[in-house]
Amino acid sequence: MDFLKYIAIPQSLEHFLLLRVFLNIVLALSLPYLGIVTGTMILSLYYDRRGRVKGDALASRFANDLIQTFVPGKSYLAYLAVLPVLSVAFLFAQMFQNTPAMTVSLATWAFIFLLIAAVFIYLYRYTTHLQTVFLSQEEAGKTMQEFSASNESTRRKAGKWGLFMLFIAWFFLAAGLTLAADPKAWNTTVTIFPMLLSGGAWIRLVFFLLYGLAITASAVPVYFLVWKVRAMGVDAEYHGFIVRQSERIAFPALLIMPIIVILTILSLPDVALRGSSMLLAGLSIVLMLAAGQFFYTMDREKNYSYAIGAFLAMIVVGIAMGTSDQIAIGSASRNHAAVLAVLYEKDAEEFKAKMGVAGVALTGQEIYDAKCSACHQFDQVKVGPAYREVLPKYQDAKQKLVAFILNPTKIDPRYPPMPAQGLKPAEADSIATFLLKKYAPAPAGS
Ligand code: HEC
Repeated sequence: MDFLKYIAIPQSLEHFLLLRVFLNIVLALSLPYLGIVTGTMILSLYYDRRGRVKGDALASRFANDLIQTFVPGKSYLAYLAVLPVLSVAFLFAQMFQNTPAMTVSLATWAFIFLLIAAVFIYLYRYTTHLQTVFLSQEEAGKTMQEFSASNESTRRKAGKWGLFMLFIAWFFLAAGLTLAADPKAWNTTVTIFPMLLSGGAWIRLVFFLLYGLAITASAVPVYFLVWKVRAMGVDAEYHGFIVRQSERIAFPALLIMPIIVILTILSLPDVALRGSSMLLAGLSIVLMLAAGQFFYTMDREKNYSYAIGAFLAMIVVGIAMGTSDQIAIGSASRNHAAVLAVLYEKDAEEFKAKMGVAGVALTGQEIYDAKCSACHQFDQVKVGPAYREVLPKYQDAKQKLVAFILNPTKIDPRYPPMPAQGLKPAEADSIATFLLKKYAPAPAGS
């Protein structure tokens, strides 16, 4: 599956940023609808079974209305769920080229399983629709009844397989996002099995499922009672049923989700943890509580428009969590982005040299004299720390040093922050090589 990585070409830091923006858009657009599809499948199968086992006509009707309303046609599944996950695979292929990370495979498998799931889900929807047609033919002949029976068995199988494939797709996607944010595991994770033991992946999966239930439960009163999307003629009894069920699903999901969000943040490795991720997680928790409050007010005032507030809050939660994932992945791949940028510049230089327009590349020594010596010396503190003090920790981590030089972060409270030096990635690479070589500690024993 990693073949996608071989068609990728290195990119500048700006391109990398653009890829992150795309990743953010794709996640923010697809998570809410994927959530609704998941919630709809879980609930539709649950109420369908309840309708059959207990002979509860309202439950059967609810199961039917859920799937017909929230999976209105093939194109919704294709454009809002399946294709976005395929684009995650393509974006990962660009972002994680030159690493052995199997993030791309994970995202590709997520796409494949989602595609299979979509076929089953659509079949489930279609046979459910047929079944209502058959059942309305009360005095149907024998052939009709046989059709109906075989349709019913296809329907149940399609529903179960659809949900099962959806779970697997979610797991692969959760594993891909988790691995992408954990650079230490890029080299060591070469099969799916370690991911099966990854706490981060399972926590994300649980989050997605609860999120799916919560967003579907808040969409139900909006679509069924406020917008009356399918003009389904809701009588008082069914009305009461819809309200009770959506509350019964929403409240527990909304109560557990904040805990899972906190666990998601705690499961992030240090390199991936950013203040902004925590802020978004905090925002999500506030929105979950607000959604709970909307449900409560809706129940008390019997005004179902309040559900719109809960529904919007859930959409924003999906966007916030997708963004928080993107930030974690971006932060985790900072060093890698610098490496790709260096490759990109080298390619560009070579290309220019071939065309006979090569600029004069500065050596590490020249850059040091021109740009660094004003603030740094080897064994003396100037404006910045002495190199002797700070270089040892970069001895085996040139990429980290390149990333720091390109984009300095605040490190030591005793010094002011270092201003960015406006170097090109290839220049940062040569000054880093120069410094590390020049100041390499003498080998032990000499
Ligand atoms: C205007 C002054 C200034 C210039 C010019 C400057 N630096 Fe710095 N540098 C600093 C300061 C101040 C710090 C301490 C920052 C901190 O600890 O937050 C620092 C810290 C560093 C560190 C240590 C980072 C760490 O992990 O502790 C390295 C390495 C470094 N600079 C490399 C360079 C290189 C290479 C150049 C030239 C391309 C350069 N600096 C140019 C002021 C400067």
